Amino acid sequence: MEILRTVEELRAWSRGVRCKGEGAIGLVPTMGALHAGHASLIRAAAEQCPKRVVVSIFVNPTQFGPNEDFARYPRTFSADCEIAEREGATVIFAPGVEEMYPAGAATFVDVEGLSERLDGKSRPGHFRGVATVVAKLLIAAEPDLAFFGQKDAAQVAVLRRLVADLRMSTRIVVCPIVRESDGLAMSSRNLYLDDEERKQALVLSHAIRCVQDLVAGGQRGATALIEAAHKTFAEQPEVRVDYVELVNWETLLPVNAVQPGTLLALAAWGGSTRLLDNALLQ
Ligand code: PAJ
Repeated sequence: MEILRTVEELRAWSRGVRCKGEGAIGLVPTMGALHAGHASLIRAAAEQCPKRVVVSIFVNPTQFGPNEDFARYPRTFSADCEIAEREGATVIFAPGVEEMYPAGAATFVDVEGLSERLDGKSRPGHFRGVATVVAKLLIAAEPDLAFFGQKDAAQVAVLRRLVADLRMSTRIVVCPIVRESDGLAMSSRNLYLDDEERKQALVLSHAIRCVQDLVAGGQRGATALIEAAHKTFAEQPEVRVDYVELVNWETLLPVNAVQPGTLLALAAWGGSTRLLDNALLQ
């Protein structure tokens, strides 16, 4: 497995692979601190693009707000390389900040509308940073397939729009949420949770289960379902809800009733840790 540090090296690798015409190139963008959720994306990429998988590891400063956790975000590069290699990565792309944002960089990608919804509402500028760095990665790696987790469902909606609007040829592949055995959605930020917060964080998956059960029982109304989720959260008052929404996954706009493609999206704070979870309601 090769470690590349510059856009020029990555582009040369990708074009070299393409010239050989051996098949699709896969990209798995990450911010590192890899866990089983990331591993599942790399595995999916390695299955569809064997020997042609780029895993990028870059803690992207522009998607963090001024009072967020950029400085303390976990950085575990050597462990990440081991996981990536084990799961079938061909190349790690690990640029420095100056490589992705050269001095004087003034170009940003804004997916209007979508970027202000869900996490974008509570984290202004977050999706602008995400869209910008992912656009740079797609332009550099020119992958056929790019793999993202449903865990960050609003991010997926923003990136699908980005790729469609910029007429990029990359196809976005969405992989299911990987959970701990007790139901907590895996996240690099779970490392921040102390024992008590770790237990309390289960309220997100419990709220999802509660809504899924009601939907299975025939409830379709958004107001009743959202209220039920809030009631579950109320059992764990230390966890502060940011949002509970039922939205159309493409537009991220609220729906009145569950339809095919309706996403239940939750965000909350466990101590100072932001927790996300979601489920597609069938
Ligand atoms: P990061 O949080 O490192 O996540 C990288 C990818 O792993 C994302 O597509 C995310 O949805 C996926 N992922 C995280 N936890 C997961 C889980 N439990 N199950 C399945 N997939 C999971 O998302 C980002 O980085 C950044 O915003 C990035 C796209 C790299 C741009 O900087």
